[in-house]
Amino acid sequence: MTILQVRNLSIDYLAADGAVLHAVDDVGFDLEQGRSLGLVGESGCGKTTTMLGLLRLLPAEGRIISGEVRYQDTDLLRVSEREMRKYRWSKISLVFQGAMNALNPVRKVGDQIAEVILLHKTVTDKGEANERVGELLELVGITSEMARQYPHQYSGGMRQRAMIAMALACSPDILIADEPTTALDVMIQAQILDLLQNLQKELELSIVMVTHNLGVVAEICDDVLVMYGGKTAEYASVDVIYNEPLHPYTQRLLQAFPDVDSPASSLASIPGHPPPLDALPPGCRFEPRCHCREGICAVENPPLVMVKPGHYVACHMVGD
Ligand SMILES: Nc1ncnc2c1ncn2[C@@H]1O[C@H](COP(=O)(O)OP(=O)(O)O)[C@@H](O)[C@H]1O
Ligand SMILES: [Mg+2]
Repeated sequence: MTILQVRNLSIDYLAADGAVLHAVDDVGFDLEQGRSLGLVGESGCGKTTTMLGLLRLLPAEGRIISGEVRYQDTDLLRVSEREMRKYRWSKISLVFQGAMNALNPVRKVGDQIAEVILLHKTVTDKGEANERVGELLELVGITSEMARQYPHQYSGGMRQRAMIAMALACSPDILIADEPTTALDVMIQAQILDLLQNLQKELELSIVMVTHNLGVVAEICDDVLVMYGGKTAEYASVDVIYNEPLHPYTQRLLQAFPDVDSPASSLASIPGHPPPLDALPPGCRFEPRCHCREGICAVENPPLVMVKPGHYVACHMVGD
């Protein structure tokens, strides 16, 4: 069953100098219940914007230009802000990028989690909320006594676990984790990925995993959406993405990610830069960096085409 259906989502930012940045352009995906989708691409390709957009949490300069975000039978982009609050945290929860470093340093971690519970749940009793905090911490592998400690008494991995506990406070169906392992060392990354996998099974969560690391995706995702310059480059199951990647960008990304088992291996970077979002080229956004380009690529934007059931690619060089 599809639990979340995103269609034609486009998001702009209005920059201070008046420029319009097309950060997300016509992105769509299906999140199946109990499965996990990886959203992958280089920094700046629009991953965080897509996630903030579907939860309607964009900063003031962000604008949703078009799209549908269907949770069960409701288009979340069409409900009132008041109605929307019933979905955030309780149905769809987000571990914000970098949030583990944004915990309030002068408040106990447990109190910060309790606040979320008291704000969103019918639990009004402080004692009951604290009990729930203890359960949540244990759920993510932290002893409940740690609730009384301050963020600086937590290691990086523990702070990320606490953020995951907070995201789970209102028992959501969908967990979005935005770069949850990026700031952590490799050993701790693996532990956080294990935790997410176990939680997924235990709580029957559906997960969107946002990352720039295809190694992370290989570990835990069922499906993968590869974004480039605000657009979908390729979208398929994880096996297809790894074994039969068709988009030149996906192929390059796969060459670029370091071997998960030998983190010291060198990271081959893709030469060139992502496209300027305020002056997008008329053709394929990857064309200037592409090793397969031909004449048409600089002229016409390739549509996203289904090349096989469940395998979508936006590339002129694929499919015919
Ligand atoms: N508040 C903002 N105002 C203007 N531009 C922004 C803002 N937030 C992000 N952007 C731009 O939008 C693009 C996508 O950013 P983001 O969604 O954060 O990418 P990612 O998460 O993939 O790294 C980037 O070019 C970024 O500079
Ligand atoms: Mg981001």
